[in-house]
Amino acid sequence: MKKIDITGKSSTSTILVGERLENLHRYLPVENPIIITDHVVLDLYRQKLPKAEIICIGTGEENKTLQTVESIYERLVQLGADRTAFIVGVGGGIVCDITGFVASTYLRGVRFGFVSSTLLAQVDASVGGKNGVNYHGYKNMVGVFNQPEFVLCDLELLQTLAEKEIQCGFAEIVKHAAIADADMFTFLENNAEQALALDHAIVEHLVSRSVSIKAAVVNHDEHERGERRKLNFGHTFGHAIEKVCGLPHGQAVSIGMSVAAALSVRRGLLAPEEATRLNNLLARLNLPSSTDAPWNDVLAALDKDKKREGQAIHFILLKQIGEAVVDSIPLEELRAVIPDHAC
Ligand SMILES: NC(=O)c1ccc[n+]([C@@H]2O[C@H](COP(=O)([O-])OP(=O)(O)OC[C@H]3O[C@@H](n4cnc5c(N)ncnc54)[C@H](O)[C@@H]3O)[C@@H](O)[C@H]2O)c1
Repeated sequence: MKKIDITGKSSTSTILVGERLENLHRYLPVENPIIITDHVVLDLYRQKLPKAEIICIGTGEENKTLQTVESIYERLVQLGADRTAFIVGVGGGIVCDITGFVASTYLRGVRFGFVSSTLLAQVDASVGGKNGVNYHGYKNMVGVFNQPEFVLCDLELLQTLAEKEIQCGFAEIVKHAAIADADMFTFLENNAEQALALDHAIVEHLVSRSVSIKAAVVNHDEHERGERRKLNFGHTFGHAIEKVCGLPHGQAVSIGMSVAAALSVRRGLLAPEEATRLNNLLARLNLPSSTDAPWNDVLAALDKDKKREGQAIHFILLKQIGEAVVDSIPLEELRAVIPDHAC
């Protein structure tokens, strides 16, 4: 088991990679915790949960709403939960994001922790203290920064994950290596097939390194004013592709990383062989570099985001594998690299 600390402005979070769900009771400061989970995770893992009140929510982005939050507040009131309550989110990124938001706002904040059960939640969503929900179709529009007291990343839970969910996690793992850790990138190149097969030691190393990289960035820039933006590598384009074509997040981010690498080469920042290394690794992890998306619509979605933010689009580019820089890029420049990414 590996232990990594994140020091937020208001509190510290301890991430335990490799700790098991059945040991959750050891970390609970109260006898009667409240667990928030979704029905898929509950059906699979009910037997492993400690004695607790359980609040079960639906799955999918359509449930990541203020309505779900309100229904949880209602249950908390019914249960008589007071300021001494301790809430644990057991699930993927959606459960963690909702749990963190509910716990941070109910009675102006009660204590909380997570057991993250998807690869994406373990390497990304449960780490860093961003909690929130979607609002009128806008992703993560309403939320708070607040660190959970602990996050248990139980690697055994990954065995029941659908392949699409594993892909989402690997896209974020590649992202972390590409922006911050050349050795981790080489490790991935040397162990891609074992990683995909969820070899325990390989996955433990990759999750720990990912958490450490995100923790280091968040420790410097919890509220995303500068350095934390680098974690958006592949996401500027990725979000637009996801919105326009409905591709799964991991696939969209993968294409976004490939586009960002091509832009980096075009700007003379990155050697072409390094972009090829990235594309080859993505392919070995069954992640795409291109799409038959209607690219004009993708660019229009990017432009709309830019207008919404009232500023230039910040793109994360690579100087080399393991080192990222933030820059703003005109849409016309993006058009030039698109033919290489259109099927
Ligand atoms: N807060 C952050 O910093 C941050 C970062 C990245 C993503 N996110 C958010 O995370 C969310 C996506 O998270 P996700 O990819 O974990 O999706 P998710 O929470 O929707 O989980 C994916 C699916 O897997 C199921 N599942 C969960 N654990 C399982 C297990 N062990 N075995 C089998 N099935 C299991 C879930 O029921 C769900 O159907 C998005 O809403 C995104 O905005 C947040």
